Amino acid sequence: MGELHVLDHPLLQHKLTVIRDKNTSVKEFREIVSEIAMLMCYEATRDLPVEDVEIETPVSKATVKRIAGKKLAVVPILRAGLGMVDGVNRLVPNAKVGHIGLYRDHDTLEPVTYYCKMPNDIEERDVLIVDPMLATGGSAEAAIGFIKEYGCKNIKLMCIIAAPEGVERIRNSHPDVDIYVANVDEKLNEHGYIVPGLGDAGDRIFGTM
Ligand code: PRP
Ligand code: URA
Repeated sequence: MGELHVLDHPLLQHKLTVIRDKNTSVKEFREIVSEIAMLMCYEATRDLPVEDVEIETPVSKATVKRIAGKKLAVVPILRAGLGMVDGVNRLVPNAKVGHIGLYRDHDTLEPVTYYCKMPNDIEERDVLIVDPMLATGGSAEAAIGFIKEYGCKNIKLMCIIAAPEGVERIRNSHPDVDIYVANVDEKLNEHGYIVPGLGDAGDRIFGTM
């Protein structure tokens, strides 16, 4: 069963408070989303396998650790997921980037796909799907479904804020997927927005309010 990891590090919680604030500027919002993604990626990659290697320091020979051959792909759900890619790539520079374009239909709240482009060797990679918001869970559910169609086995979902409904939906439809969030908020409102949330993540990252 995939696990729900709520990352309660004080630095993460502080940064989350800044981006929730409606008076935070687009510039600061975008920068902090990237920093949060980097901090969350640190936790989401905690189980990467390591191997022993021999090196020489300026002082002596040493047997030390390095990441063993695992390959990672980070897959942002467009648009808002794009704001998290740079933070992940700063920690894992060799991660390839796939893109899934989805938007929520305003009336049905169901996801509509408009773009999909994955690295050629995606099926050999562990996949980290990123999107700041897990609301009804429809977008993440569809994105995970797409990636499974390529044959990927090890998929993680990293969102900054989740609603209980979204977490429940992913745990039911994709019980093998670990979910990483900085907080599970109270609820969804009648428009499908997370309460208290941070508003429309894509609009706040790209300044399209
Ligand atoms: C937002 C968000 C998620 C989705 C979450 O995207 O970035 O992708 O909503 O909602 P759900 O869990 O109910 O599917 P949106 O559809 O607003 O598109 P955008 O990123 O292009 O603004
Ligand atoms: N998408 C967002 O950007 N914000 C929400 O609160 C819900 C879905």
